[in-house]
Amino acid sequence: MSKNITSVLHETRSFGPSDEFRKKAKISSVEEYQKLYRQSLDEPDKFWGDIANELHWFKSWDKTVDWNEPFVKWFVGGKTNPSYNALDYQIEQGRGDKVAFLFEGEPGDSKEITYTEMLIKVSKLANALKYRGIAKGDRVAIYMPMIPEAVIAMLACARIGATHSVVFGGFSAQALADRINDAEAKAVITADGGYRRGGVLPLKPAVDEALKICSSVDTVIVVERANNPIDMRKGRDFWYHDLVNNASDYCPAEELDSEHPLFILYTSGSTGTPKGVLHTVGGYQTYTYLTNKYVFDQKEEDVFWCTADVGWVTGHSYIAYGPMFNGVTQVIYEGTPNTPHFGRFWELVEKYKVNIFYTAPTAIRAFMKWGNEHVEKFDLSSLRLLGTVGEPINPEAWIWYREMIGKNNCPIVDTWWQTETGGIMLTTLPGAHDAKPGSAGLPFFGVEAAIVNAQAEELEDNEGGFLVIKRPWPSMIRTVYGDDERYKQTYFGEIPHVYFAGDGARRDEDGYYWIMGRVDDVVNVSGHRLGTMEVESALVAHSLVAEAAVVSRPDSLTGEAIVAFVSLEGGKEGSDDLVKELRDHVTKEIGAIAKPAEIRFSDALPKTRSGKIMRRLLRSIASGEEVKGDISTLEDKSVVEKLLKQAKIQK
Ligand code: PRX
Repeated sequence: MSKNITSVLHETRSFGPSDEFRKKAKISSVEEYQKLYRQSLDEPDKFWGDIANELHWFKSWDKTVDWNEPFVKWFVGGKTNPSYNALDYQIEQGRGDKVAFLFEGEPGDSKEITYTEMLIKVSKLANALKYRGIAKGDRVAIYMPMIPEAVIAMLACARIGATHSVVFGGFSAQALADRINDAEAKAVITADGGYRRGGVLPLKPAVDEALKICSSVDTVIVVERANNPIDMRKGRDFWYHDLVNNASDYCPAEELDSEHPLFILYTSGSTGTPKGVLHTVGGYQTYTYLTNKYVFDQKEEDVFWCTADVGWVTGHSYIAYGPMFNGVTQVIYEGTPNTPHFGRFWELVEKYKVNIFYTAPTAIRAFMKWGNEHVEKFDLSSLRLLGTVGEPINPEAWIWYREMIGKNNCPIVDTWWQTETGGIMLTTLPGAHDAKPGSAGLPFFGVEAAIVNAQAEELEDNEGGFLVIKRPWPSMIRTVYGDDERYKQTYFGEIPHVYFAGDGARRDEDGYYWIMGRVDDVVNVSGHRLGTMEVESALVAHSLVAEAAVVSRPDSLTGEAIVAFVSLEGGKEGSDDLVKELRDHVTKEIGAIAKPAEIRFSDALPKTRSGKIMRRLLRSIASGEEVKGDISTLEDKSVVEKLLKQAKIQK
């Protein structure tokens, strides 16, 4: 963990909501925010109890929060079900005929699904899962394109109390197998394939490949989507349509304990294999409900579009759950933003009259690069609120987003959170706060954030340090699946008595937080988290690679890009063909998102005398910066000279 963090970004502009926005907003002044914020910290039982009661409970809880550091329980003794709250409870409130999803496939097919239709679809699949012997407490892997059945699968699992583990469709067979094995999933819900970038991305073949090394799975349910040829294994593989056609259309929701495991979602850390972040029912549902309501200022008539994939936590909290608990109408789009043309997203904003649009900075930078003409062709006047998530947004992209997409008329919420936090932790509230380009804003209700040094001492305003959370919140990670010790070490082991998950930040004199990025060995490529260790182990698994060190360098499009330094077995020389082979190899081991942008060969890597690779040096070399700081611990100084010389030649 780096010790000194210097903040370099000094942005002084700020933008408040229009009077019109403010007037209609759910929270419309700083004073109102402060009052509720104070209440959330001073009277957490009352605050969270009232919020939790805005959703349905089969049985109320005995205790609001039970904190036994680092383990937390919320709404202890209560019984509820997120699938009930997402569907039945919405229908009870008169939203049965309201559209839940406006789906648009990449080839242009589209359909609408109401809340009542969702309940029937979810019930049918839940009954099909039961028929296949899946019961409360079992784990189910979901490996899907961005189609409504992905959400249906999640809610069907939740309905019967099976814990879902969604694996992003871009991950490889190997990565899928690792996740299935870690969770010992009994079933996989997948599709033949999905439409992406103008072609078909096959999924079922990757499941077949993965299952060669997974013994826990005895059921595979396959949605027919892209009609690509696939194999179906008798007795194990079932067509989704066959199972649901035979299933009854109502399945009562299980009465789940508030701390029942709702889902596992794997994410990267600085060490070891990806961690299975575990979230439970009651706290997660309460927090995603509330954040969705206030951060996006959800109105009954709004059309909300979060462009994330359900394979990431954003797609869990702000597609499958939070908006459903608020009875929102959402757009789901299967494809990429540049297929079949560069204006595809804006075409959909116009078509579906989207009011609230939530995306990632990496996408915004791509839109900027593609050119304004693709935006200007479409009518974006329905938009009233914009959001970003996943990585720091550079002020230039923020301003472009405000001007080109928001037409200077939409507040922007920059939301900081993590897979582990379950929901948005830092943000501005759009009707209450001014936004500052590049700042994630202020703590959300119940979030006691601070900037500290390694001894947990709080730092002065504008001093860079570690961003920590000082008390538990409802949607906090409960544990690393199957590994309480790793949970404790990772999140509470480094800085005493606070939750710390790897980001550096500073807080300015107005209390706004400015995220400076990860301070551990996690890289953030296009808003997707990857551990450098994972990429390194993928590289060394190749027979020609002796050693590999992976670092990141800044990239104007993807935020960060992966640079791999590789030394080969037996002093062999690298070549362009080998670069390609290694990049393909990483794609096969992890997925295309982990493919190094650059591979540099070197006969040795810079190490300390105790044999540790000096990544700091490699980071400077990869970024083309001057190598500064103490290199006295370096074992062989000539290695650095060679790497620098090589870098010059490559330039
Ligand atoms: O470094 C922070 C960055 O993304 C990390 C969390 O990644 P993940 O668990 O994949 O979740 C991403 C979606 C919630 C954080 O540790 N990050 C996320 N949002 C922001 C951000 N960095 C700066 N600003 C943000 N708004």
